[in-house]
Amino acid sequence: MAALSRTFKLILLLFALLETAAGTIGIHDRTREHILVDICKEVASTISAASDVYYPPSAEYTADILHYASSSMQMSACSVEPGSAEDVGVILKIVQRTRTPFAVKSGGHATNPGFSSTEGVHISMTRFNGVGYDPSSGTADIGTGLIWDDVYAALAKHNVSVAGGRVSGIGVAGFTLGGGYTWLTNQHGLSLDTVEAFELVLPDGAVTKVTSSSSPDLFFGLRGGFNNFGIVTQITLKTFAQEQVWGGQLTFTSDNLDAIVEATANFSASNTDPKAQIITEFNFIEGQADVFTSIFYDGPSQPDGIFDEFLAIEAAATDISTRPLLSLVQSAQANATAGLRGAYETVSVTSFSVGLLNVIVNETIFWGTFLEALYPSGTFVSYDIEPFFASLFTHGSDSAYPPSRAQGLFPLNIYYAWNVSSADDFFRDKIRQSATTIKAAAVAEGQDIADAALYSNYAVIGTSIDQIYGQNVDRLKRIKARYDPENVMGLAGGWKIPSW
Ligand SMILES: Cc1cc2nc3c(=O)[nH]c(=O)nc-3n(C[C@H](O)[C@H](O)[C@H](O)COP(=O)(O)OP(=O)(O)OC[C@H]3O[C@@H](n4cnc5c(N)ncnc54)[C@H](O)[C@@H]3O)c2cc1C
Ligand SMILES: *[C@@H]1O[C@H](CO)[C@@H](O)[C@H](O)[C@H]1NC(C)=O
Ligand SMILES: *[C@@H]1O[C@H](CO)[C@@H](O)[C@H](O)[C@H]1NC(C)=O
Ligand SMILES: *[C@@H]1O[C@H](CO)[C@@H](O)[C@H](O)[C@H]1NC(C)=O
Ligand SMILES: *[C@@H]1O[C@H](CO)[C@@H](O)[C@H](O)[C@H]1NC(C)=O
Ligand SMILES: *[C@@H]1O[C@H](CO)[C@@H](O)[C@H](O)[C@H]1NC(C)=O
Repeated sequence: MAALSRTFKLILLLFALLETAAGTIGIHDRTREHILVDICKEVASTISAASDVYYPPSAEYTADILHYASSSMQMSACSVEPGSAEDVGVILKIVQRTRTPFAVKSGGHATNPGFSSTEGVHISMTRFNGVGYDPSSGTADIGTGLIWDDVYAALAKHNVSVAGGRVSGIGVAGFTLGGGYTWLTNQHGLSLDTVEAFELVLPDGAVTKVTSSSSPDLFFGLRGGFNNFGIVTQITLKTFAQEQVWGGQLTFTSDNLDAIVEATANFSASNTDPKAQIITEFNFIEGQADVFTSIFYDGPSQPDGIFDEFLAIEAAATDISTRPLLSLVQSAQANATAGLRGAYETVSVTSFSVGLLNVIVNETIFWGTFLEALYPSGTFVSYDIEPFFASLFTHGSDSAYPPSRAQGLFPLNIYYAWNVSSADDFFRDKIRQSATTIKAAAVAEGQDIADAALYSNYAVIGTSIDQIYGQNVDRLKRIKARYDPENVMGLAGGWKIPSW
C-alpha cells in the first residue's frame, strides 16, 4: 500500500510538471482524473460506515460542491461526507500520503476561487450538524457543517443565541475561523472572540480539543487562521440571552441617497447604544442605484429616536418589526445573487464621514454603470457600510486576526457579481481598483489606515497574508511548522501560512 501511494505521489507530481510545461488539456488530465478517482475509492474503502463518498452527477455530490458564488465552485473527482472526526483523520492521512489536492467546505460562502473547492477530494462538513446547548456553562457545541440559520433556530428554543451571521445561508466554520462581524459585535466582539473551544482534526489525523489553556498556540492560530492547522469539526461558542429583536430591512430609491448618506454618517458617529447596529448597502443594478438599510436592535423595541433619521426617509419598501433573530437575519435579500459569479473586496476604515460615504456612492454608480454597459445581464455592484463601535476589538484575547486590537477597524464590504466566467479577472481587477480609490479617500481625510489589517473574509484573492495577519505572520509560521510540518493543509486552498 505504502509503495503504491509513493507511486501515486510520483505520478501526480510528474503530471503536474507535464501540465505546467504543456499547459494543455489532454491525455495527462484524463490520467490524472483516473488517479484522483482511485484515491476517492481508497477513501471510500477506508472510512467507517458513518461516512460516504459521492461521485458526479449524484444529488449528494452536487449539493456538496455547491457554492454561493459559482466562481468559487470546481468539479472535484468526488465528494466525501465524513460522519466522524476520526474519519476526517483517515481522509487527511490519505491525502497527505498521496499529496492529493483537497477542499474543506462548511457553508460554501467563500467568495474567492479555490478556497473551499478542488479538482481532487472535496470534503463537505455537512454531517457535522449538531447543536448542543449546555445551560450550566452557557455554551453551545456547534457542528461545522451548519449554516447560522440552523444554529439560531435550534438555540431559540432555549431563548439564547450566539454571535453569528447577519444574513441567511452563511456557514459556521469559515465565518468563525476568519473573524465574524455580527449583530452582537458592539456588545461581544467578533464571532471568534466568543469561542470557548474547538474540536480539531490535526494534519496528522489526530483528533484534539483546543482551548485557550490546553493549546494556546492553536487557540490563537485557529481564531483567524481558517484551515491552516487542520479541520475543525465542532466549535463551542458562548451563548447570550436572546429575546425578540426589533428591526429588518428598509429599501430606498436613489432620490434619497443624500439623506441616507447623512443618516448613516450620523448613526456611525453618534450611536452610543451597543444594542443598536445598522448596515447600509449602496447597490447598483439594472441601470440604477438603490439602497438597503438593515436595522438591528437587540431587544423587542427600539429605544426612542435611535433609528428615527432612517425611518423618516421615504422608503420604497419597509420590513421592520419585533421578531425572532432568525426572522431578522432572513429578511435581508442575501440570496438574490446566489449562483452568479462573485468577488468581495475590502477597505478597513475607522469612521464613515459624509465625505467618505459620498466617495463610496460615486464608486457604486461609476462602476455599476461602467460594468453594466459592458456586461448588461447579471451584473450587480454593492458597497456595504458596516459601522461598529471603535471598541469592537476590546472584547477578546490575542488571535491570528485582527493582528492588532489597539485600533478599531470597520471592514467596508465591496461585492461585485457577474454572469460570465471569461470576465472573472476583469471584475476582480476593477474591484481592487475601486478599493484603492476608497482607501486613498479615507487616508486623504486623515484616517490612520494606510497599513490597517484587511478582513480575510472580505479580501479579494491576491491579498497578501501580511496584509491580513500583519505582525502575527511570524508566530503563525512557527505554529504551522510545529503542527503541520509536511504542509498537508497546503493541499487545500485559502489564505495560506507557509510551514517554513
Ligand atoms: C452573502 C454573504 C454574507 C456575508 N456576511 C458576512 C457578515 O455579516 N460578517 C462576516 O464577518 N462575514 C460575512 N460574509 C463572509 C463570510 O464570513 C465568509 O464568506 C466565510 O468564509 C463563509 O464561511 P463558510 O463556512 O460559508 O465558507 P466556506 O466557503 O465553506 O469556507 C471558507 C473557508 O473556510 C475553510 N473552512 C471551512 N470549513 C472548515 C473547517 N471545518 N475547518 C477548517 N477550515 C474550514 C474553507 O476551507 C475555506 O478556506 C458573508 C459572505 C456572503 C457571501
Ligand atoms: C422563552 O421565553 C418565552 C417568552 O418569554 C417563555 O414563554 C418561555 O418559557 C422561555 N423558554 C425557556 C426554555 O426558557
Ligand atoms: C439562502 O440560501 C441557503 C442555501 O445557501 C438556504 O439554506 C437558506 O434557507 C436561504 N435563505 C432564505 C431566506 O431563503
Ligand atoms: C445629522 O447630524 C447633523 C449634526 O451632527 C444634523 O445637523 C443633521 O440634521 C442630522 N441629520 C438629520 C437628517 O437629522
Ligand atoms: C467618481 O469615481 C470615478 C472612478 O473612481 C472617478 O474617476 C470620478 O472622478 C469620481 N467622480 C467624482 C465626482 O468624484
Ligand atoms: C446568466 O447566464 C445564464 C446562462 O447564460 C442565463 O441562463 C441566466 O439567465 C443569466 N442570469 C442573469 C441574471 O443574467
